[in-house]
Amino acid sequence: MAKQKITPTNREVFFGDDEIIVSKTDTTGRITYANDVFLRIAGYTVEETLGQPHSFIRHPDMPRNVFKLLWDAIQAKGEIFAYVMN
Ligand SMILES: Cc1cc2nc3c(=O)[nH]c(=O)nc-3n(C[C@H](O)[C@H](O)[C@H](O)COP(=O)(O)O)c2cc1C
Repeated sequence: MAKQKITPTNREVFFGDDEIIVSKTDTTGRITYANDVFLRIAGYTVEETLGQPHSFIRHPDMPRNVFKLLWDAIQAKGEIFAYVMN
């Protein structure tokens, strides 16, 4: 899929202290799972979300290097803890 130009809504979306955003991707970064909290905050249905490259919700202010770090860590079978602005 061609890279889309993302235009942020500038609308901050909040979620509860007891909620957690969960998504899974395959090794090419395509989404294979997204929980209800993810869908509600992203504003997409499950049909619109599954199979998309995870970058479909990437905020343009997020430096790409962070994602290189993430993928390098995953490929080295490590784990990473990082904040992501979407
Ligand atoms: C489990 C998982 C979760 C991810 N979550 C996000 C995310 O929330 N936002 C995001 O922009 N990228 C996320 N990524 C990284 C994307 O796969 C991708 O590397 C990143 O968006 C940069 O893509 P681009 O350089 O093609 O724009 C995630 C990757 C994995 C494996």
